[in-house]
Amino acid sequence: MTQRPDGRPQRAALWTEADLPVAAEALLAGGLVAFPTETVYGLGVRADDPAAVARLYAAKGRPRFNPLIAHVVDLGAAEALAELPAEAMRLATAFWPGPLTLVAPRRPGGRVCDLAAAGLATVGVRVPAHPVALALLRAVGVPLAAPSANPSGRVSPTTAAHVMAGLAERIDGVLEGGPCTVGVESTIIGFDPAPVLLRPGGVTAEALEAVLGHALAVPPGSRITAPGQLASHYAPGARLRLGATAPRKGEGWLGFGPDAVPAGTCTRSLSARGDLEEAAANLFGHLRALDSAMGGTGTIAVAAVPDEGLGRAINDRLRRAAAPREEP
Ligand code: TXA
Ligand code: MG
Repeated sequence: MTQRPDGRPQRAALWTEADLPVAAEALLAGGLVAFPTETVYGLGVRADDPAAVARLYAAKGRPRFNPLIAHVVDLGAAEALAELPAEAMRLATAFWPGPLTLVAPRRPGGRVCDLAAAGLATVGVRVPAHPVALALLRAVGVPLAAPSANPSGRVSPTTAAHVMAGLAERIDGVLEGGPCTVGVESTIIGFDPAPVLLRPGGVTAEALEAVLGHALAVPPGSRITAPGQLASHYAPGARLRLGATAPRKGEGWLGFGPDAVPAGTCTRSLSARGDLEEAAANLFGHLRALDSAMGGTGTIAVAAVPDEGLGRAINDRLRRAAAPREEP
């Protein structure tokens, strides 16, 4: 990233859509640029530039064995990177552009460098639905490797301000695109050769199964096949207590459904009408707001969320946010 004359990193630029050509130029030059997608903000670098990918891993503090998703402009661009099996093509046709990542064998000669793929024989590809993301991909003309634009292990960003709060000193710029409408990351499907749910996300398992005409497999042995699916993830400073019916004294409260939300700065509702789409869109922003209201300590009690549809992705993220921390 760019440096001040004294060698200290410069604060990231905040670009609007009108500055898109500047953001594209920074990416083409090997820079780190955060951009909006419909799920969460991504931190993009060109997927074919190992030096840029190495800077990206360093900026996020991300373990290098954790591969990145390649974002592309359309199905044809995805096929240039990955050998998509027939069922992957059906899912791509039904859900792209959209919050679905398909993991398939890397195509020899495809423009995803080994470091972006973490040395795996497969690659995750996705066509995002956000118009700014698509315009950026069109402008750069190369696939963009893009994890969520947060320091590794922390809460994913759903606004440009969230990105700035976590990474401003470590990246070149953020392209503003408003709040993310889906709010949880893409669903990840692998092929074994049957479709396997590697991460629940913005496209529900039910919707995928309706297109496939059969049930999705779950990874044998463990649900954790995507290396990023480490136990502790999405972690705020405060602890979470899940499946709560009410806050205990001194706890914050993250509610769901028609139950009254206690008054106070440390309380929020994911969706008062019990709507899972609204809850997903609010999840990370509310976690951040509550964490900040709690001063990054104490406990946030979280109401039960139904484990169906988008609720599966919400509960997956909540469980990881509540998991014991790896760091002391
Ligand atoms: O919605 C999203 O998917 C967002 C936006 C920015 O597109 N991106 C995102 O990236 O969530 P990230 O890096 O935070 O999560 C990507 C997940 C990781 O768990 C990673 O291990 C998994 O995808 N993944 C990527 N390539 C894979 C592969 N070849 N095999 C298995 N898992 C893979
Ligand atoms: Mg992430």
